[in-house]
Amino acid sequence: MGISYDVKDVNLAEAGGLRIEYAGQHMPVLRGLKERFAKEKPLSGIRMGACLHVTTETANLMQVLKAGGAEVALCGSNPLSTQNDVAAWLASDLGVPTFAVRGEDNERYYQHIEAVIAAKPQITMDDGCDLVFTIHDKHQEALPDMLGGSEETTTGVIRLRAMEKMGALRYPVIAVNDADTKHFFDNRYGTGQSTIDGIVRATNILLAGCRFVVCGYGWCGRGVAMRARGMGAVVAICEVDPVRALEAAMDGYLVMPIMEAARWGEVFVTLTGDYSVLRREHFEVMKDGAVLCNSGHFDVEIDIPALREMARSERRVRPMADEFLLPDGRRLYLLGEGRLVNLAAAEGHPASVMDMSFANQALCAIYLAKNGRALENRVHPVPPEIDAEVARLKLAAMEIEIDTLTPEQERYLADYQAGT
Ligand code: ADE
Repeated sequence: MGISYDVKDVNLAEAGGLRIEYAGQHMPVLRGLKERFAKEKPLSGIRMGACLHVTTETANLMQVLKAGGAEVALCGSNPLSTQNDVAAWLASDLGVPTFAVRGEDNERYYQHIEAVIAAKPQITMDDGCDLVFTIHDKHQEALPDMLGGSEETTTGVIRLRAMEKMGALRYPVIAVNDADTKHFFDNRYGTGQSTIDGIVRATNILLAGCRFVVCGYGWCGRGVAMRARGMGAVVAICEVDPVRALEAAMDGYLVMPIMEAARWGEVFVTLTGDYSVLRREHFEVMKDGAVLCNSGHFDVEIDIPALREMARSERRVRPMADEFLLPDGRRLYLLGEGRLVNLAAAEGHPASVMDMSFANQALCAIYLAKNGRALENRVHPVPPEIDAEVARLKLAAMEIEIDTLTPEQERYLADYQAGT
């Protein structure tokens, strides 16, 4: 009997395979790990459940886990991020039970999470915490088998920390997002580039001279602001954190409250992790033609129900752009249905940055397989030796050499008596 899966069309597998192989060429660290895993089989017999964006990069990670001996089941971590050709290849060629269809509704999205839980994972690999939350909420019977989990994204880590604080977290989870070799690079350069890519693909607007508003100046917001400026946009930052706002100002951006930015801006991107960031009072004053999109994990940052309520009509004008006509004749354009625009309207982060994020994931899976039972039910950092190893491997793959301290320099640093 074949494996069970739910994908759009298995006949897309060949096209998916070509794109996955191409992405793999930009993932040298994962490639090295795949060879190592194939020899050492560190995940032999371990059942894993993954809830990740189903992309060419994720398919390369799945190959590493399989090479290491794991049995993996996979579902999508967002209804609009699945690449159907990739899901088809994973199911039919790699033999990974894959449950992901681009455009699935919420009910099917959660059925797919249930299908992964039904595979009885001992390790979860989550992006956004929906898998971990569903296990805790509806499948406590799965908890005794669990060695641990890992979490890919900022929003997921925030949810996990809230669970930990409430005493609700019932197995240990590693915050992969918080590794230096993850968020300094993936969140900043990955989100920076892929968000601009999504906006441009969805609209084909010219960014040079464009008034561009970034809501949220965390690592992702910094990356988007930096890349928008690089394309010639005039960038304004909206923040609630005074230190981040100050940093944005000294990085040379305009900083203003959202209400002021709403009147000023032409393109708006939310990356705050919070709810209702752009809402009715802002829609009421925006310019005709303003473009709204979100690159945060969930589709709650733009108040779409309010926009819909205000609009006289709504129509799809381009594959990932919906026009909302307001009673006074102004038109606002919502990209990617308010879901993460970098994955809904483009292909997510480029492979060479996911190489580092997913190397952390793969190495954390081994760590959990070995040590999970001994860890407390808390949110744990990525072990520093894993972070350092990923940096070393990436530098080596980029053919970059660095210096080491001389013994005299080491001694100097250890000597508190040497001053003026
Ligand atoms: N998150 C952002 N970009 C991604 C990608 N290309 N693959 C998987 N997860 C992602």
